[in-house]
Amino acid sequence: MKKSWWIMLFLSIAIMLPFIIPYLTFDPASSRVDISSRTIQYPALVLHIVLAFVAMITGFLQFHKKIRENNPSLHALLGKVYVVSVCISGGLALIVTCYEPDYGRALSFLFLDLIWLFTTVKGFRAAVNGDFAAHKLWMIRSFAITLTAVIARAVVPLLILFYLLLHGFALPNGRTGMIEEVLDNNIWAAFILHFIIVEWYLLRPRREQLSL
Ligand code: HEM
Repeated sequence: MKKSWWIMLFLSIAIMLPFIIPYLTFDPASSRVDISSRTIQYPALVLHIVLAFVAMITGFLQFHKKIRENNPSLHALLGKVYVVSVCISGGLALIVTCYEPDYGRALSFLFLDLIWLFTTVKGFRAAVNGDFAAHKLWMIRSFAITLTAVIARAVVPLLILFYLLLHGFALPNGRTGMIEEVLDNNIWAAFILHFIIVEWYLLRPRREQLSL
């Protein structure tokens, strides 16, 4: 695995851990997301987070060249864990999205989730059908969506900077208003960034090779 990949792995863990840890107490009182129902919302959120983290780690390991080339059965096993984790975590994210009160934010989660599930299932089916070129392409897309959750958090400081520049370093709606506006838009920003990085840059030469 390249040095840059290790850096991305550790950065992703470092960015996500502070968001994940409060949910490992299994105490709804420490949830950062508003828990408006005493039924399925909190358990679905916690399981979504744990499995999304499993997907992130196994997803990273799928790009480990030595595992892929020297231990294909481990690659296949980790791939199955990745697919199952995404499918369950993505299914639970649909439930969690239903509790999101902000329409724009809920819509961004819905799009992200459907594309997460779609690209993962496409990648899995391509592997089952023995089409490994398409499998690689769809899995790169799927994993990039997994990383969108990380990028969405990493871009927050940049979005705050842009907000401040836009308002001449004033806070017309106060500090809370600024944070709310930024968090209502960070998923879209990460989503668009994801498309630029993956479709325009990362997959361009491969798409030509695959004549897609
Ligand atoms: C890519 C598809 C994903 C979708 C559609 C999704 C969806 C959601 C939704 C709807 C929420 C509730 C947020 C709210 O209502 O404000 C949430 C929370 C959360 N998700 Fe995901 N998620 C995804 C991926 C991930 C991944 C890959 C991770 C971890 C590696 C992750 C970790 C979290 C965490 C930690 C929270 C709690 C947020 C907080 O406390 O601020 N999610 N997710």
